[in-house]
Amino acid sequence: MKEYDEVKCDILIIGSGAAGLRTAIEAHDRGARSILVLGKCRKGDAHTVLATGGINAALGTMDPKDTWLIHAADTYREGEFIADYREVMFLCKDAPRAVLELVKWGARFHREKDGRLTQRFFGAHTYRRTCFYEDQTGKEMMRVLIAQAAKRRIRIAGDIFICSLLKNGKRIAGALGLDVKKGRLVVFRSKVVVLAAGGYTKIYERSSSRSYENHGDGAGLALNLGIDLVDMEMVQFHPTGMIYPKKAVGVLVTEAVRGEGGILLNSKLERFMGRYDPRRLELGPRDEVARAIYDEIRAGRGTKHGGVWLDVTSMPKSKILDRLPKMYYQFKQFENIDISKQRMEVAPTAHYTMGGVDVSPKGETRISGLFAAGETVGQIHGANRLGGNSLLETVVYGKVVGVGASKFAKSHDYTTPNDKELKMAMHEVGKFLGGKDNPVELRSALQETMWRYAGIDRTEKALREGLRRIRKLRSRFAGMRVRGGLRNNKQLEIAIETEKMLDVCEAVITSALLRKESRGAHFRSDYPKRDDTHWMVNILASKKDGKIGLSTRKIPMPSATIAKKLEPKMDVDPHKLLE
Ligand code: FUM
Repeated sequence: MKEYDEVKCDILIIGSGAAGLRTAIEAHDRGARSILVLGKCRKGDAHTVLATGGINAALGTMDPKDTWLIHAADTYREGEFIADYREVMFLCKDAPRAVLELVKWGARFHREKDGRLTQRFFGAHTYRRTCFYEDQTGKEMMRVLIAQAAKRRIRIAGDIFICSLLKNGKRIAGALGLDVKKGRLVVFRSKVVVLAAGGYTKIYERSSSRSYENHGDGAGLALNLGIDLVDMEMVQFHPTGMIYPKKAVGVLVTEAVRGEGGILLNSKLERFMGRYDPRRLELGPRDEVARAIYDEIRAGRGTKHGGVWLDVTSMPKSKILDRLPKMYYQFKQFENIDISKQRMEVAPTAHYTMGGVDVSPKGETRISGLFAAGETVGQIHGANRLGGNSLLETVVYGKVVGVGASKFAKSHDYTTPNDKELKMAMHEVGKFLGGKDNPVELRSALQETMWRYAGIDRTEKALREGLRRIRKLRSRFAGMRVRGGLRNNKQLEIAIETEKMLDVCEAVITSALLRKESRGAHFRSDYPKRDDTHWMVNILASKKDGKIGLSTRKIPMPSATIAKKLEPKMDVDPHKLLE
């Protein structure tokens, strides 16, 4: 029997969340036919289902003065000006079309009594512009996108774990995967590969991702192929994750809670945001609110389990059940508390990664035929991401990449993966078999290290110590051998993931060390100010001879006319609009 199975398709999409599905739909509509979407989880169970609060578009249904340019200004400002302004403008300009397309496809977004789409407030927005389905918007989008993919007979397969990308010279040739259920290696031969494999928040101990997702697979696969990662130090810590009980630590408590009027209190029951952002209070930028909570806890004003209170007890229960039902049942399930009567205990959690694979505005990487979309990609959001822009990015850039992927597939033939590289890729899987080691403990140590030494508040000393520990873990990892074979072997999957995580962690921590300033989500308490003179740059991480190296690149600057248009407006008091 051959060592591996072979599957051929024109376009291989790695990741079956919203970005991957939207890419597939567009590629199909542009004439591509042989499309295969792969997920490492069960079919339909991508991280997108956890995206709760909503999706942004300046539709002006609630606040008619809103425009896509104001949305772009908010996005650019939130990213502290190191996002590519052209991508920001494209994202926000295309948002109304993208959201209305989802509505046309059957997304049941919340509506006002007169039929207008309801738009709720999210932090650091000038106007209400987040469309939503309860607090389960991602799940609703997945329902719609899967139905659209099914209508087009696009193949989606779950339980396939991609181990390496395969190329021939400077062209992508496919990928090597593991069919977890069959226990077989599979060589996927394709003209185009799209990386839509999510971000890397799961390198942190406390994260809003589940245990089996967002380990940085996309970034790790790209890095191994010689592709640069950009701004890896930019990790968003969402202000409100669950803090209790242990099994729920990190689980997202949607920003929609604050967008609908929820307030934050410390253990002395002070509405402490008044001291940090007196005008916007709980509706300020995520990084500021997260740091304010962190500071309250550090100053000894935290709750018993090390968080602060989030309070919706003055909100009518009917409103909670209409707009925040997931939160209601989440707290009932985990803590047996009724949030209409009792406060929620929350603390920051790693939620989104702004860094990722370096791509052109069309989603192309340096390897011909290899594209990336969604959270796998870096630089679109700069140093911080506006809440509600993540779901938006999946559908806007999924479409862009779908266009490029179908064009490429139509104008190119297959190429054969380089034989030596294929053998090496197979060896990289097989090398983990034949021992008794358990990679789980090492992975937990890695996640703890990242949380402790490269979390919300960073310093040279802590980052250096974190780097030292990561390198020590890396040498402990060398020679890792797990029990069992290729079939249903969770430990093998964890070992493959952890190898990439080590690279990703090193890229994050070395980039964080290099950026000697505070900007957006990257807060260095030893360099607490933003430094536009030296740091209006992207930091690029690459891998050469097994080592992570860094370089910098100047960011594209808008002309004076465009810069004027992108100036923050923020003249509206969000709480007035909520009244
Ligand atoms: O809080 C939230 O619902 C998160 C939304 C987002 O990250 O866009």
